[in-house]
Amino acid sequence: MNNSTADLSGKKVVLAYSGGLDTSVCLKWFLEQGAEPYALYLDLGQGEPADDVEAKALGIGAAGAFVRDAKDEFVNDYIAPAIKANALYGGEYPLFTALGRPLIAKKMVEAAREVGATHIAHGSTGKGNDQVRFDVTTASIAPDLTVVAPVRDWGMNRPEEIAYAEKHGLPFSSDITKESPYSIDANLYGRSIEAGPLEDPNYEPQSDVYRITADPETSPDEPTYVEIGFERGLPVSLDGENLPLLDLLVKLGEKAGDHGVGRIDMIEDRLVGIKSREIYEAPAGVTVVKAHKAIESMTLTKDVIRFKATVEQRYAELTYDGLWFTPLKSALDAFIEDTQKTVSGTVRIKLHKGSATVVGRTATKALYSKDLATYEAGSTFDEAAAAGFITLWGLPARQWSSVNGGIE
Ligand code: ARG
Repeated sequence: MNNSTADLSGKKVVLAYSGGLDTSVCLKWFLEQGAEPYALYLDLGQGEPADDVEAKALGIGAAGAFVRDAKDEFVNDYIAPAIKANALYGGEYPLFTALGRPLIAKKMVEAAREVGATHIAHGSTGKGNDQVRFDVTTASIAPDLTVVAPVRDWGMNRPEEIAYAEKHGLPFSSDITKESPYSIDANLYGRSIEAGPLEDPNYEPQSDVYRITADPETSPDEPTYVEIGFERGLPVSLDGENLPLLDLLVKLGEKAGDHGVGRIDMIEDRLVGIKSREIYEAPAGVTVVKAHKAIESMTLTKDVIRFKATVEQRYAELTYDGLWFTPLKSALDAFIEDTQKTVSGTVRIKLHKGSATVVGRTATKALYSKDLATYEAGSTFDEAAAAGFITLWGLPARQWSSVNGGIE
């Protein structure tokens, strides 16, 4: 793979097309270069109507337009492993944007194979993580393809793009200049908001930022309880009803969002070295990872939980850094998968005023034993054995202290 906008004449290019201004300008720009651009619109549950996207792309002059629903693939092959991994970047962000990028790249590669394209293209800027994810994923799965990122290369700013669109009669909303100052990325697993006034890290996000979570100040005074059933590390039921993971996450996201759960405001370390201010709304992701950890705490040994925590952090970084299709990530998946064999049970969660609190849990293979833990009569734990154990456990500390007189 190499990155080049040089000589695109006669080249077939598959462009990840959203229907928005950036990618519409990209499409026209490819035509101007003499290329043969194909538009690919993927439905990842971002909630925008896809109906007129095809007509829009063809209207601008695309040689072809694909509109594809990738929601199931997104949930089963990207979100599900991230749930098993409790993957949270910076300990907070459930990585919904980062998880979508390798899938979009994979779909672009598939479309490129269908039409015999030599190039794929995306509308990412040169400052973010998404360009890295698209480019490195393509390098990982289709090293023969060339990736083009016109927005990164041409250096047009927003007003220049609008002028370009006007000059070429591209269809774009006349409200575009009045549009929200935010840069937004959304899919079925969450919504990210950047830029505009949020670039001041000391500015409190106002209500115009949020769309899928209620303001905890005005969310219902009465809590809602949800019960999530897990099997082998994945949610399979909600309040006793078996549901496909996609439906379950959407439903859970709505319930948690109604109580203001899943708002995240963080300073994040981008792969390109920039610290950025990010607002996320991830009601389903925040709740489901909490629930999953609750079952793991009942079913995994202390050793596995500790070791897995280091794997989880690395997993989140690999996902964030665009290294989804790499040998390390694949090896970590195998480790995580092995740990999930007994992670089955139910978690009861209380949703209230912005928080999701685990209030109960059961597990089919629980390592938790009330007989061992109880302070009441009938405990099977041998307290007499504790004294000898502690003597040996403390032996190195005692020895150090008698030789050195303690820690300075
Ligand atoms: N900072 C997040 C990430 O790198 C989200 C970026 C989403 N892009 C956007 N235009 N808001 O995963």
